[in-house]
Amino acid sequence: MGQSPEPRTAMPHSEPVPIRPAQNLLGSLRVPGDKSISHRYAMLAALAAGRSRFENFASGADCASTLGCLRELGCGVERNEQGVVLIDGLGPTLRPPEHALNCGNSGSTMRMLSGIVAAQPFASELTGDASLSRRPMKRIIEPLTRMGARIEASDGDRAPLRIRGGKLHGIDFRPAVASAQVKTSVLFAALLAQGTTTVEEPTRTRDHGELALRAFGAELEKAGNSVTIAGGQSLHPLDAFVPGDISSAAFFLCAAAIFPQSNLVIDGVLLNPTRSALLDVLAAMGSRISMLRVEEQHGELVGTIALTPGQGKPVKIEGALTALLIDELPVLAAVAPFTAGGLQVSDAAELRVKESDRLSAVTRNLQAMGAEVEQSEDGWRIPGGQQLHGAEIDSYGDHRIAMAFAIAALRANGESVIHNAGCVAISYPTFFDDLEKVLER
Ligand code: S3P
Repeated sequence: MGQSPEPRTAMPHSEPVPIRPAQNLLGSLRVPGDKSISHRYAMLAALAAGRSRFENFASGADCASTLGCLRELGCGVERNEQGVVLIDGLGPTLRPPEHALNCGNSGSTMRMLSGIVAAQPFASELTGDASLSRRPMKRIIEPLTRMGARIEASDGDRAPLRIRGGKLHGIDFRPAVASAQVKTSVLFAALLAQGTTTVEEPTRTRDHGELALRAFGAELEKAGNSVTIAGGQSLHPLDAFVPGDISSAAFFLCAAAIFPQSNLVIDGVLLNPTRSALLDVLAAMGSRISMLRVEEQHGELVGTIALTPGQGKPVKIEGALTALLIDELPVLAAVAPFTAGGLQVSDAAELRVKESDRLSAVTRNLQAMGAEVEQSEDGWRIPGGQQLHGAEIDSYGDHRIAMAFAIAALRANGESVIHNAGCVAISYPTFFDDLEKVLER
């Protein structure tokens, strides 16, 4: 099998990207394959003996980091020009890595892969870039240690992680934070452990880990916010099409919601109910949204979204809803000044420990555009009906901040410049090209 090198951090837009105001947004498009599902399919493919094949695998640098790590762990990994990824899995026991497992900017890679290497009969080191090395890891170190792994981390909580794997045993685990990455990490370790593991989440998070485990042939039980899995189950390879990433579609949907004459169709996009709360929020903000041709693929709902805008009410996002909207909150906040009723968000302190402190990054960029915004410990209050001006925008090296403010800039008076915009390649390398295709100027 060919060993095509995976780009770890492809940055085609390292120079500042100017964004001119637009008149309207019209047309239809597809977005790259879902990042959350691509990571999980790739990792489980590594644990299934034989060849798995994934069409529309996520094109960003984060999932390339996962593929690079799996190659380092002895799997054959190939990606062709059409975006089809082939993985030759090894079964439950992988090969000792010769080098550190470089997770790049990807929290999903580091947290979920830790669950897998914790159960391997060898030691691994997981490293990340400066942003990832600042993010909290105790949330996975604690349960994996309880299962029997030995893990050393910088200050007990930060990458690099040195994991001495071995035989694990099942646990009952109630994570303090609602995190699908943590849940999935423990479920992956549990699959390879002896005995049974139950994870009971404080509130519901995305369930792609559970659905992917089932798609690869594992059995698990779900009840309320709990999931239980027996260890020692073997997986079979999978041939699947990865649905379009609704968190990438979110930028275009939010853009369409703030242009009165817009009309947008996005085909083949993920509609899993643990990921599609954005559609309810946009509907409350006044948009008319239809879902067409909805079907199930390997447990995941996929379909077409059509959106036309309208005048809506003030929207409040709090409690359990924040975990279900965690990746969409930056763009919702960035467009909130242009909505009729504005937006209030609380219980979203997790945004402070993403690729950047997203609460501060959004506040600073909105203020640079002249917006009225109040930031609290765990959210914002952003009045609607505002007019903003173009500004110098800092992405803070965070892909979702760069894209969120490229969208806000379309409705500002005057040109904006997005600095350090190359980070869009983390999840959406063709974002600026795709945006141009649906804009009317
Ligand atoms: C993800 C879960 C979320 C999200 C991240 C991807 C996943 O993180 O922010 O982009 O694929 O499980 P947390 O679960 O840590 O909140």
